[in-house]
Amino acid sequence: MKPLVSKPIAADRVRFKGSPALPGDKSISHRALMLGALTVGETVVHGMLEGDDVLHTADALRALGAEILRSDEELAWHIHGMGVGGLGEASRVLDMGNSGTAARLLMGVVASHPFTTFFTGDASLCRRPMGRVGEPLERMGASIAARTGGRMPLAVIGAAEPLPIAYRVPVPSAQVKSAILLAGLNAPGITTVIEPQATRDHTERMLRAFGAKIEVSERDDGSRAILLTGQPELRAQVVKVPADISSAAFPLVAALLVPGSEVVLRGVGVNPLRAGLLVSLSEMGAEFRVEPRREEAGEPTADIVVAKTSPLKAIHVPAARAPTMIDEYSILAAAAAVAHGASRFDGLGELRVKESDRLVAMAAGLAANGVKVDLEGDSLIVHGCAGPVAGGGTVATHMDHRIAMAFLVLGLAAKAPIMVDDGAMIDTSFPGFVDLMNGLGAAISSKEAS
Ligand code: S3P
Repeated sequence: MKPLVSKPIAADRVRFKGSPALPGDKSISHRALMLGALTVGETVVHGMLEGDDVLHTADALRALGAEILRSDEELAWHIHGMGVGGLGEASRVLDMGNSGTAARLLMGVVASHPFTTFFTGDASLCRRPMGRVGEPLERMGASIAARTGGRMPLAVIGAAEPLPIAYRVPVPSAQVKSAILLAGLNAPGITTVIEPQATRDHTERMLRAFGAKIEVSERDDGSRAILLTGQPELRAQVVKVPADISSAAFPLVAALLVPGSEVVLRGVGVNPLRAGLLVSLSEMGAEFRVEPRREEAGEPTADIVVAKTSPLKAIHVPAARAPTMIDEYSILAAAAAVAHGASRFDGLGELRVKESDRLVAMAAGLAANGVKVDLEGDSLIVHGCAGPVAGGGTVATHMDHRIAMAFLVLGLAAKAPIMVDDGAMIDTSFPGFVDLMNGLGAAISSKEAS
């Protein structure tokens, strides 16, 4: 456990300024490694997130036969892949750490390879449901032997003759969609995924960039159909990973909470299926500019500039927006806690199966710091304090990096310091978070040092 304390930035010492170097997008980094490993030739990845989650993916792909090297001079990663269907059986259990994305997408990759792969993870990951991925993969011909409830540790016995399937995903999950598409890469014919609600489409964009035939269409009922033609010959790429909007969200909201801030967040991925937080913050009256830059890795990017802070007002975030900001509710809740009025976020059922039951962890953390909250089914109501929250509480993070970071940001806009019981998991997605925030003007320290 690594407890951390975040102290309020005093109004008379206003200083939250800078243009920090942000970590690469986690979702895109995982996918670049996986597609590189399924491509003959050398794929080069710049700007890759070097967080623990992504390092677990790299390690697993090495165990499956890909050559993956980091060049310190170029700060780039070089992947020599084995081609679609070309990975080999790992001689050890693959440890996915805290990463649901690594686990679920790699289950898809190995499901259409004719060998057995054993997966495990940390205590948080071993609690998370994997049956949502196992079920469609079994339809494709794989077998899964898992603990009760489809949980890890588990084994995927890959299909010798994988079948393309047509599958309607029952939950809005890019991980489930991507697992099926990655398995479908090595199935002959067309694999079809129907998504009732669109989720982040990094897999589709990157598959296209690597030369796969993939067609996406909107259907009359508002759902999306994704058709992938199997067994393509992928072409090695140079991938430039944009900065992660889910990480940029923390300094962004911090800048909005601390009056007088001046922060520029450069090269942030603003894929519309990830950018729901920007919509929500704008609706709260937050003032920031989104200045478009060129596409990187088939993804739109932008600089986000905060030069003025104004009071935030409460909002209603409809359930339909949830897939476009599913990882940002904890930091949005921090913004809502200082806003004027009661905010309501609907359709948060998926937050119950993140790195923690994030819905409960958010509500408990806010309550511990003097913010009134109501949980109504899958909705969260945050009664804003119209200014700094009381603070002074300790937040139980339950091995969830985003809970830790959101409450450390809220500590900047509290009357008394906020403590999180464990900041160790922050390294899964945002290595250097504390130094970056302190470099901008925050005062986050280990509990012993405070
Ligand atoms: C991710 C999808 C989301 C998200 C996760 C990353 C991805 O999970 O919460 O952090 O890279 O595909 P779900 O697919 O479970 O919604």
